[in-house]
This record gives sequence, C-alpha cells and structure tokens, in this order.
Amino acid sequence: MGKEFIVVANWKMHKTVAEAILFLETLTARMPQSQEQITLVIAPPFTALFALYKTMEKKHIPWLLAAQNMHEMEKGAFTGEISATMLKELGVTFVILGHSERRNLFFESDALVNKKVNLALKENLRPILCVGETLEEKKGGKRETVLERQLYCALEEVMSLDRVILAYEPVWAIGTGEHALPEEVQQVFTFCRKVLAKRWGEKAARDIPILYGGSVTPKNSADFVKLPSVDGLLVGGASLTVESFSEIISLCHYNPKGKLGTL
Ligand code: PGA
Repeated sequence: MGKEFIVVANWKMHKTVAEAILFLETLTARMPQSQEQITLVIAPPFTALFALYKTMEKKHIPWLLAAQNMHEMEKGAFTGEISATMLKELGVTFVILGHSERRNLFFESDALVNKKVNLALKENLRPILCVGETLEEKKGGKRETVLERQLYCALEEVMSLDRVILAYEPVWAIGTGEHALPEEVQQVFTFCRKVLAKRWGEKAARDIPILYGGSVTPKNSADFVKLPSVDGLLVGGASLTVESFSEIISLCHYNPKGKLGTL
C-alpha cells in the first residue's frame, strides 16, 4: 500500500443544503466499487457542512469534509467570519487555504495565509494549502520564484509538515478549461518538494501529499493520476455533477505505480 490518494471536490459558492444532500446520496448510490484507498473530501459552502456531516454519519459514508476558508483569529468581533473551532464542531477535517480566488478576489496575502495555516494546525485541522502562479508570472519565467515565495511564506513557523497537504493550482488553469501539461505538473511537483526539503528535510518533502488542481475533468484526470508524484486532485467545476465527479473518482484507480493498489 502506498500513500493516501486524496480527491477533493471544491464546490465554491454552489449548492444549497438540499442540493448538497441529494448529490451525496446520488454519488454514493453510484459508486459500487470499494474506495478504500481514496480519501474523498467534499468542500461545500459553510452552510451545507453540518447537514453533510450528519448525512455521512447516519449512512456510514467514510468521506471527509473540508471548509473552503476560515478566519485567522480564534474568536472575536469579526462580523461574517467563521473560526476553526466552529468548523471542527461541524465535523470538518480539512480547510482549503490560500486558494487563488481568496488571494485575488478577497486580497488574501501570503502573511494572512500563513496565520491561517498555523491556526488550522494548532486547532488540529489539516490545511490544504493552495499555491500557483498567474499566466503573466508563468510567461515571465517567474513560476519557480512565485512558488518558492508562496511556500516559504505560507509555511513560516510550521514545525512539521505531517498534517499539511499542498495543492498546486496554476491560476491560469482554474475554471478556464486550460490545464497544466502532465510533464509540467511533474516538474513543478519536483520543484516544490525540493523547496520543502531545504527547510523540512527530504523525508517530509517526499511524504507531503501534493494535489493537482485546475480544470481537472474526466477527460484529463487519468493523465494526472498516472504521474508518480501526484497524490491527489482538487476538482472545482467537474465536481459539481455526480456524472463527472464519479467518473473522475473511478479513473483514480488507474495508477500504474500501484499507489492505489489494484481494483
Ligand atoms: P476548476 O477549479 O476545477 O473549476 O478549475 C479548481 C479549483 O479552483 O480548486
């Protein structure tokens, strides 16, 4: 048995509670084969977290929940915000941090992402830290500099990477239909592991799960799953329908490295 393979559905601002439950029930009914070697994570809007948690508990569905964001402070006068403690109470295990939509549309800085990562770890939530360059940065040959900065800033004062998950999501690939080429992904992942190894050592850098995200679809997901250094997928648009998401999940078994064992 190899590393866990993590598939995350990032629903963004989609699905009401009723729609979320219907999705969960339809998806579980559709997936006859064992998913034991895949860690399936749903990241619905905050409003649907508890209802999904209760449904999973009642129906013994072994999937996990992620929040799409959280506040960097433990509590306080922050109208409209949600704390790590509140998320844990809703049955949340993971929290997506530093997503490019948070960075670009809500002006989250590297320093803010760093505060959130440290608080998540302190509160025993597993951060799914998103990093990725813009098209301009890629064209300007700045991809590696950007990734190195994002990694070191977001992970400052983090002692151990044991509970951290990394997601490489090139900004130009998110929701655009453009995806990174498999060889590009392989190169970037190797680079990220090299950067992490400098500060946290070879073992931690090898062991940290790294996911690919950015226009993952049933058509291209097998290409990423096949790559030896890819430990999972972060899926946005294609996780919104049961048809495409279940197809992606079943393709996750086609890993020649045996990361997922045989079906
Ligand atoms: P996408 O989104 O799959 O729709 O490109 C991915 C993400 O934003 O996490």
